[in-house]
Amino acid sequence: MEKVVVSIGGSILVPGENDSDFIGKLASMLSEIKNEVQIAIVCGGGKTARYYANIAKELGGDTYSQDIVGIGATRLNAQLLSLALGEMPDKVPEDPEELASNSKPGRIVVMGGTVPGHTTDAVSAMVAKALGADRIVNATSVDAVYTDDPRTNPDAEKILDMTIQDLENIVYKEHGASRSSVFDPLGVQIAKENRIDILIVEGRNLDELRNAIVGNDIKGTFVNSH
Ligand code: UTP
Repeated sequence: MEKVVVSIGGSILVPGENDSDFIGKLASMLSEIKNEVQIAIVCGGGKTARYYANIAKELGGDTYSQDIVGIGATRLNAQLLSLALGEMPDKVPEDPEELASNSKPGRIVVMGGTVPGHTTDAVSAMVAKALGADRIVNATSVDAVYTDDPRTNPDAEKILDMTIQDLENIVYKEHGASRSSVFDPLGVQIAKENRIDILIVEGRNLDELRNAIVGNDIKGTFVNSH
């Protein structure tokens, strides 16, 4: 059975509107396919993470402290998705190895962040490595990678296929804004070293997300690591 790790952004999971409705539908979709592919999920922190990190900063907290509260938010989101999947853990797995040892066909395990210094995209690549996963699906707020920012450049074109080297060039070019980049540079590096493909899809579109997880054609971007 194929193994797939989904990195789901907090902005997808809890944008602040109809959150329980979306998380419920997401959990139903995942439950429908959990016997087709072995699934592990890493949740981002979204607005909650930014809100808490900002308060920590105002209180004089350094980047490490801001990351710590950000990780707390990612774990809260992971608990919500776990609950929707039928299990409310007292605590979610705290490192990729712990998730990997709990993962098996038919059982969806969900976690958030690990330690300060990176984002949950990087964690998803670490989990994919620990599991020996076939691909990482990045469920994000954009529907694909573009040649330029489509919000400011009407000539920006959607990229359907690229190599991991192309993605590496993009994320390192954007390094100044690395954390809000299309995929965390550390995650790209881990995926490249371990030859794990990355699919970038619009996470609120559950048909598209499902297609990416089970290995059907997608409308988003396929990043080939082989
Ligand atoms: P996210 O993974 O949600 O960060 O983790 P992000 O990519 O900045 O958020 P989106 O995609 O725009 O919603 C939230 C924050 O938690 C900390 C980081 O500060 C990160 O910005 N974090 C998360 C860690 O320090 N380590 C982790 O393993 C995960």
